[in-house]
Amino acid sequence: MVRKIKVKNSGLIKLQVVDDFPDGNLVIGEANKSVPFSIKRVYYINNLYNRKAERGRHAHKRLEQIIFCVNGHFTLTLDDGENKQSILMNDPSYGIRLGPKLWHTMTKFSSDCVILVLANDHFSENDYIRNYQEFLNYVKQ
Ligand code: TYD
Repeated sequence: MVRKIKVKNSGLIKLQVVDDFPDGNLVIGEANKSVPFSIKRVYYINNLYNRKAERGRHAHKRLEQIIFCVNGHFTLTLDDGENKQSILMNDPSYGIRLGPKLWHTMTKFSSDCVILVLANDHFSENDYIRNYQEFLNYVKQ
């Protein structure tokens, strides 16, 4: 897992871990505490058996999200329009902030990968920027 985030509108979120060895781990996030907003939506991505799968490839105008890899691993690539960073997501106790104006792509999934995302708003297609050139123009505004 990465230690330093170099792109804008992102950041590393550390959740509390209760290590109940040998009975597993408990990982805890609380809204407006370790999760820096009120959670309005949760979604998860599983069945990632296709190693060539590619998800994301968009940015948001206003949405705040935190992304976790709760099982397995994948690569998260962040791009703020100036700087890019690829992060190996392999620790369920760390989340990455996906703030507004941040192009993100998810690739190289392990077959047991499960991704959990917490969002501060309901789904709205109007909040998406799905064209990379449009994204670059938007961040330069
Ligand atoms: P998208 O966000 O593009 O997926 P990903 O970033 O994981 O590749 O969403 C894929 C489709 O699912 C798209 O048609 C929008 C729809 N969708 C919803 O209806 N509600 C949601 O909360 C999300 C995240 C997606």
